[in-house]
Amino acid sequence: MDAIAELAALLSVDRVLTGDADLAHYGRDWTRWWTPAPLAVALPESIAEVQALVRWAVGHKVAIVPSGGRTGLSGGAVAAHGELVVSFERMHRILGFDPLDRTLTVEAGVVTEAVQNAAREHGLIYPVDFGSRGSSQIGGNVATNAGGIRVIRYGMTRAWVSGLKVVTGTGELLDLNRGLAKNATGYDLRHLMIGSEGTLGLIVEATLQLTDPPRDPQVMLLAVPALDAVMQLLTLMRERLSLVAFEFFTDKALVHVLAYGGKRPFEGNSPFYVLLEYENPDANTEAAALAAFEQAMQQGWVTDGVMAQSQTQAAELWRLREGITESIAQYTPYKNDVSVRISKVPAFLADMDALFAREYPDFEVIWFGHVGDGNLHISVLKPDAMAKADFERACERVTGHLCDVLERHGGSISAEHGVGLLKKPYLSRVRSEGEIVLMRQLKRVFDPHGILNPGKLLDA
Ligand code: LAC
Ligand code: ZN
Repeated sequence: MDAIAELAALLSVDRVLTGDADLAHYGRDWTRWWTPAPLAVALPESIAEVQALVRWAVGHKVAIVPSGGRTGLSGGAVAAHGELVVSFERMHRILGFDPLDRTLTVEAGVVTEAVQNAAREHGLIYPVDFGSRGSSQIGGNVATNAGGIRVIRYGMTRAWVSGLKVVTGTGELLDLNRGLAKNATGYDLRHLMIGSEGTLGLIVEATLQLTDPPRDPQVMLLAVPALDAVMQLLTLMRERLSLVAFEFFTDKALVHVLAYGGKRPFEGNSPFYVLLEYENPDANTEAAALAAFEQAMQQGWVTDGVMAQSQTQAAELWRLREGITESIAQYTPYKNDVSVRISKVPAFLADMDALFAREYPDFEVIWFGHVGDGNLHISVLKPDAMAKADFERACERVTGHLCDVLERHGGSISAEHGVGLLKKPYLSRVRSEGEIVLMRQLKRVFDPHGILNPGKLLDA
């Protein structure tokens, strides 16, 4: 029996896809940088089937690319070299809610938004949130330690995983931490798996911690005249308000999102914008927000602002920030996702501003991101007339300089999008030789046959 026929026998014929359209669809992510070319796509429905697929892959020396919603931006879920894509989309059951633990246990293929909705049905929230909530899956969130728009308040995915089931590169099933709030029994392999981008194990199930919703969140959008006012605003607003989000974008980003159906927030333009969300349960918090706004106006850190008057308007304001990625997707953007310590942001922003002005005089550069976490997304748009390969070369050269700036400020080349294929060449700029050697050794321990997402994050 040939390898594909064997796969079909392990699952069923209709759950092994080999058609061109399926290979193209499941072999790529949101980067659109590489040409997908997987061998086949498998759609397992149980943990036992995932284990069988791993054993098949070991036997046939075929690499596995784990696949969630494929909303990744670093190529972590790209299959371009004859791999087997293991899609978790059929493993989408919510397995249970425990009111005392306040946890939700889900299969890896549950879409982020479905988890959020299930939490809300119990009066709680799953607080990890981002623009791709409608298609990204929990397995991918965990594998990339997804961040998003509420990290300033709630932290990354890592903070919300109390249990994980993982299939290693030998087909062994690990049941990690089992939902315990406290567990002081040695190395926490759960945390090693979180953010490992499918290179150490296939996440098949997660127990997620839930929490209380924020009290009456209110949204404000501010027009900010200067880059250095952004962090002064953060200090002021954090002192006065209970912040849930503090996001940033530029006028150039706004132009794209407006062209894509966003609603203009106020007359006139401003070079920068900050979107705040904060808890606003009573008249005191409302008064504090207005006072903070007025002080910011007096200081000259803000020139205009709008406070959402309804849920609909709050959603419209959020759309201006969350819609950016989608609105620029058509320009094949080269994406940077960098971070520095929050205290270093002002100096870092000034250096980066100078670098991009110098190195990218002819390209449109779009800045936005989670500035309250020290995390910025910088997307460089490909000029229509430029060949993709030339554009790529130009961007990679500038990324080399960006690494110098990051090194000076002690920052990271990937804050939340992961390393995947896109940032692999720069890993050694932000992680030491000693760390990378240990990472390689760890990879061999969990994946001795080298079948789990090889070539992603680091080379063997
Ligand atoms: C965002 C994605 C790109 O922040 O991380 O919109
Ligand atoms: Zn982001």
